[in-house]
Amino acid sequence: MGRKLYTRLYRAGNPDWHRQVVGGMWTEMGQLQFDFLVQQGLKPTHRFLDVGCGSLRGGIHFIRYLEPEHYWGIDINLALLRAGREEVRREGLAPKAPRLVRLADFEFQTLGPKFDYALAQSVFTHLPLNRIIRCLVNIDQVLIPGGRFYATFFESTRQFNLEPLLHSRPDGPDFETYFDRDPYHYNLGTFQWVCAWTGLSVTNIGQWGHPRDQRVLLFTKTG
Ligand SMILES: C[S@@+](CC[C@H](N)C(=O)[O-])C[C@H]1O[C@@H](n2cnc3c(N)ncnc32)[C@H](O)[C@@H]1O
Repeated sequence: MGRKLYTRLYRAGNPDWHRQVVGGMWTEMGQLQFDFLVQQGLKPTHRFLDVGCGSLRGGIHFIRYLEPEHYWGIDINLALLRAGREEVRREGLAPKAPRLVRLADFEFQTLGPKFDYALAQSVFTHLPLNRIIRCLVNIDQVLIPGGRFYATFFESTRQFNLEPLLHSRPDGPDFETYFDRDPYHYNLGTFQWVCAWTGLSVTNIGQWGHPRDQRVLLFTKTG
């Protein structure tokens, strides 16, 4: 999310600011995340952690589907979490009692439960590697054995791709991702290297219908 866009829309009092700053395409991207994880085996009885949930673009769908108190959304941005609470109220989903918590450093252990499934949609795309490592080391602590964490990313097929990578999208001009600034690209080997130091294994699921060329990784709790 661009900080400038966020500030401009928020300060201008745009009632839809919270839907736009998470990337827009509110309906399509919310539904896509949900359909994908159900296809990947998410069940209403599972405990689910939405990492960088924002204003609940996907969260609303997961909350509706999961049993009460089984959805946990965390984000660093309090204003987005507040907007997400308002979306929950508007959708009549308050009885599902979703847990929305501000965490600044992925300290998932403070939440309490262990999770069956977790998702970070459009989060690693904005984070430098050390922040991602922090997220993975912590997610390792809160997944049940066999638990699954899905994370979207921009893929580079070279180990250290210092050049910008060009991506196309149907709803706007082509855009670039970068080795060392937001939006970031990474290659699978980098995640495999990180996983060697955790109880996680990683596979690249690859394309999953994302309209802006994000691929998806599956981290599984093995150790
Ligand atoms: C592009 S938005 C995507 C939000 C949501 N996953 C969705 O698909 O609508 C990225 C989100 O990651 C959050 N984020 C960025 N860094 C974070 C961190 N260190 N901890 C928690 N959330 C973070 C942002 O505040 C933002 O809500």
